Amino acid sequence: MKVLKNWNLPDLKEAGKRTRGAVERVDSFMIPASAVNMGEGKTYWLSTYGCQANERDSETLAGILETLGYQPAQGPESADVILVNTCAIRENAMDKVLGELGSFKRIYSQRPDVIIGVAGCMAQEDEFVKRVLAHYPWVRLLFGTHNIQDLPSLLVETMDTDDRVVHIYSRQGEVYENLPVRRFGKHKAWVNIMYGCDKFCTYCIVPYTRGKQRSRTMEDILKEIRELKAAGYREVTLLGQNVNAYGKDLDQDLTFASLLEETARTGIDRIRFMTSHPWDFTQEMIDVIARYDNIMPYIHLPLQSGDTDVLRRMGRRYTAEEYKALYDSITARIPGVAVSTDIIVGFPDESDEAFAHTLEMVKACRFDSAFTFIYSPRPGTPAARMEDPVSPQVKKDRLQLLNQVWNEYALEKMKAYEGKTVQVLVDGPSKRNPAVLSGYTETNKLVNFTGEGVKAGDIVPVFIETAKTFSLDGHLVTDTPAD
Ligand code: SAH
Ligand code: SF4
Ligand code: F3S
Repeated sequence: MKVLKNWNLPDLKEAGKRTRGAVERVDSFMIPASAVNMGEGKTYWLSTYGCQANERDSETLAGILETLGYQPAQGPESADVILVNTCAIRENAMDKVLGELGSFKRIYSQRPDVIIGVAGCMAQEDEFVKRVLAHYPWVRLLFGTHNIQDLPSLLVETMDTDDRVVHIYSRQGEVYENLPVRRFGKHKAWVNIMYGCDKFCTYCIVPYTRGKQRSRTMEDILKEIRELKAAGYREVTLLGQNVNAYGKDLDQDLTFASLLEETARTGIDRIRFMTSHPWDFTQEMIDVIARYDNIMPYIHLPLQSGDTDVLRRMGRRYTAEEYKALYDSITARIPGVAVSTDIIVGFPDESDEAFAHTLEMVKACRFDSAFTFIYSPRPGTPAARMEDPVSPQVKKDRLQLLNQVWNEYALEKMKAYEGKTVQVLVDGPSKRNPAVLSGYTETNKLVNFTGEGVKAGDIVPVFIETAKTFSLDGHLVTDTPAD
C-alpha cells in the first residue's frame, strides 16, 4: 500500500503511552473560510455505534455539519456526506461496521461525489484502517476520536483531492470546549464530564482509542447543565468511562461526589451518571446520591467477573468480596436503588469454578439488569496475548446460562413494581404502539402506559399493572396532580 506523506495513521502502541503532563483545554473552534457554508443545500447521514461517548460525539459531528449548512438526510442513499462513527469494543461491532461500509459501495458507484467517512474508536486501530484503505476504496475520509473538531477542514480537504484523506492521531488527547452540538434528545441530554481512560483493564481497547483520562472543569460542566435546564431539559446523564475518577487528573481538589452534589444543586429534575467503576466508588458518593432526590437511585456497577483471580488478571483491582461489600453498602444506604452490571464470560482461561463464582455473585446481588458479553480478544491489549484453552462452545453455554439466571432475578425485581405508582419521564409514544406512551422510572425501568393529555418531557405518576423482564405496563394516575 502506498502511504502518502500527509496521511496520519494510528499507532496503538503510541496510544497506550501516558505522561503526567497537564492536558490542554482548547476553546477556539473556528471554521476555516473555505468551509463556511460549504453544506448549503446539502445533506448528511450519520450512523453511530458503541457507547454513549460515541452518541455524544455524533451530536458534535451533527452540530458541526449543521453549522456548515448541511441538513439531516432521509437516509444514506440521498446524503452528500455519510459518516460512520465506529466502536471497537468487541469483534462483532467491527463486523457490523464493515457490513455497513460494504453496503455504501452501491451509493458511491451511483454518486461518486458522495463523501463517505469513517470516524470513532475503530479508526484509532491500525489493522482496521489498513483493511478499509485496502478493500473499501469508496471510503474517502478517515479520522479518529481526537480530531472531530477538525471536521470542516477534513471535508474541504476530501473535496479538493482525488486521493483519500486520513488523519488519525494516537495521542493522549486534549479537552475541547464549546464545539457546536445538535442534541438528538429534547428532554434528556448527555454531558461529558471526562474523556479517555487510564484504568487499562487487560481486555479493553478504550484506553488506546480514547487516550488519557481528561476531566473537564467543574465550571464548564455546570455551565452546560444550567444551559440545558434553561432550555427545558429534564434529565442529564454525566458521562465518562469511569466517572468516579473524575477530577483526579486535575490540579484542584475535585471529586465526583462534589461534582454530583453541585449538579444536584442546579435543580435539574433528573441526574444520572455512567459508568462507575467499583474501584473508585467512595462512601461520600453514596451519601450524596442518597441525600438528593434529583440524583436517580440507579447505579450501573460493572462486575465483569465474580472470581477474584479472573478479576486480578483483568486488572480490575477489586476482589469479589470487595465488590459485594460495595454492593451491600449501596443497597443498604440508597433507598429503592436499582443496580445493573456488565459481565464478561470466557475471559482467557476462565475455569468452570471461576464461572461458578460469577453465577454465585449474580445470585447474591440479584441485579436489576445485566449486559453480558463473551470475551472478545482486542489486538494490542494484554489479555489478547493470554493462553485461552476454553472452547467457543463452552463460552456460549456459559453466556446462555448466565442470561437465564440474571433474567429470573430481573423479572423478580420488576414484579415488585406491580401495584405501585412510579414517576415516569415521558419519551413519547411507544415505538411498537403509537396509542401507548413510554418513558423511564427513576430506577431506569422502561414503562409503557396508557393515558390522556401527556406529552414528551412530562414527569407523571403511573400505576404499574403488570411486569415483564424488560418493561412494565401501566396507566396514568389522574386523581393526583401531575408534575
Ligand atoms: N468503562 C466501563 C466499561 C466500558 S465498555 C467500565 O469500566 O465499567 C462496556 C463493557 O464492555 C465493559 O464493562 C465490559 O463488560 C465489556 N467489554 C469491554 N471490553 C470487552 C472485550 N474485549 N470483550 C468483551 N466485552 C468487553
Ligand atoms: Fe475499559 Fe476498564 Fe477503562 Fe472501563 S475502566 S473503559 S473496562 S479500561
Ligand atoms: Fe466503543 Fe469506543 Fe465507546 S470502543 S464502547 S465507542 S469508547
